[in-house]
Amino acid sequence: MDVPQTVTVALDDRPVAGRRCLEAGAGAGNATAGLLANGAARVYAVTNDRDHARTTRRRVGRDDGDGSDGDDGVDESDGDRLAVLEADLRAVPLPDDSVGVITAHGLCNVLDPASLSAVAEEFSRVASPGAQLVVDDYDPLPDGAAIGGLFAVENAASELARGRPALTFYPAAFLRRFFAGHGWEFERERTLLEPVPWTESHVSAHGDRAVSMAKEHPGEPCDALAATARRLATDIGSESVGRMYGLAFRFPE
Ligand SMILES: C[S@@+](CC[C@H](N)C(=O)[O-])C[C@H]1O[C@@H](n2cnc3c(N)ncnc32)[C@H](O)[C@@H]1O
Repeated sequence: MDVPQTVTVALDDRPVAGRRCLEAGAGAGNATAGLLANGAARVYAVTNDRDHARTTRRRVGRDDGDGSDGDDGVDESDGDRLAVLEADLRAVPLPDDSVGVITAHGLCNVLDPASLSAVAEEFSRVASPGAQLVVDDYDPLPDGAAIGGLFAVENAASELARGRPALTFYPAAFLRRFFAGHGWEFERERTLLEPVPWTESHVSAHGDRAVSMAKEHPGEPCDALAATARRLATDIGSESVGRMYGLAFRFPE
């Protein structure tokens, strides 16, 4: 499958070939594809979303068509280098010191601070000495970005429905110091996209998510949030704004 340019640039100076990798937050399978293209010995692609697990298997791995997992939630194809694990990253189902590369491509913005903290603990636990950590994410949007209004509505709906925000945009400087505090040595920062092209399909997906979370709490405030999300998504259409950055770290020997 095609590897997006952001993943290619995020990985091109990282030693991936021959290493066991954890792709934290498999999503659409983009970073998984990049790791495999760069010669990873094995990629454990972890997500807590069944649809994303299926998408990653279909796009990147071999899909036997039945979507079956073992009891342990692991789908492994013999002879394949990919294992898709449906699991929570706050309790990664891998042993201590077992991976040489960890990628978190677009993961941190979907983790609230408490989850980010728990996931970082797990990264430090499963990393072997000398392991690489690649963290690619988005800086907070500048004031005046129209899409910031839509994300605010999505977060309000998420707070009402689940008691936590859907999205948190951590500044690069924040994550740099945060992972250093978890024992990682900072190696470099790159800009992967500037401005970030929030396409019509991104915008409408965020609008749809805000509406569906608002509907979990029927009542006047949520009806208003759903209507606002619909209107904002239509008005915005698409927008190019903000920055996506790539951070790289190394775990000490
Ligand atoms: C925006 S996507 C990441 C994109 C992906 N890395 C790629 O390259 O295509 C975020 C992913 O993280 C997963 N995720 C979020 N919180 C999680 C958690 N606590 N445990 C496991 N997966 C999680 C989501 O289900 C989703 O698959």
